[in-house]
Amino acid sequence: MKNKQKILFISGSPREGNTNFVLKQVHDLIDNDYKELIFLKDLNISHCKGCLSCHEKPKCIIKDDMEMLYKKMINSDIFVIGSPNYFDNVSGIMKKFMDRCHPFYKQDIIKDKKIILIFVGGGEIEGTEKYLNLSFYGFVKYLKLKLIDSYSFRALELNDIKSKDISNDISKITEKINSL
Ligand SMILES: Cc1cc2nc3c(=O)[nH]c(=O)nc-3n(C[C@H](O)[C@H](O)[C@H](O)COP(=O)(O)O)c2cc1C
Repeated sequence: MKNKQKILFISGSPREGNTNFVLKQVHDLIDNDYKELIFLKDLNISHCKGCLSCHEKPKCIIKDDMEMLYKKMINSDIFVIGSPNYFDNVSGIMKKFMDRCHPFYKQDIIKDKKIILIFVGGGEIEGTEKYLNLSFYGFVKYLKLKLIDSYSFRALELNDIKSKDISNDISKITEKINSL
């Protein structure tokens, strides 16, 4: 059945590798009225300057591609966010994106939107699942998002994920999204 909710997929890998592959698979299988897959690596996003002017006004002073992304996020119901594991943390571009979401904080602008997390690490899945969830802990908490679930994959080299049978995991994720 077609899902009426708007889903925004955001990938934080700087390469065309495993995280992008998983997100694309899920994106392509979902039959929604609105879905869009954004690759942070293709956008011009500078780092948060920490000026806190977004505490006064719900806007960022920096003019870059986050302006477009803010609008898309406000117009979405569900975020599916993917990041590679970098030193048991999110990638640098993912962290830049997360910090730049600070304008959503004070005014609860994206409060109650649902979020699904997808992680890929080269090492043991348990570590990736644990530490990347911790990396998103404050993001989910302070933006008052509803964390639906997280899914971790193990793949190291660029195309490793393609040689694995991840069809069951992809079905699990799409079923979860369809149930929302
Ligand atoms: C800078 C850097 C740090 C990494 N640190 C870890 C790590 O701490 N744990 C881990 O499991 N994998 C680590 N990896 C491996 C990546 O998670 C792995 O290559 C993954 O497939 C990258 O996802 P991608 O193909 O979507 O970019 C690291 C890779 C890089 C480049």
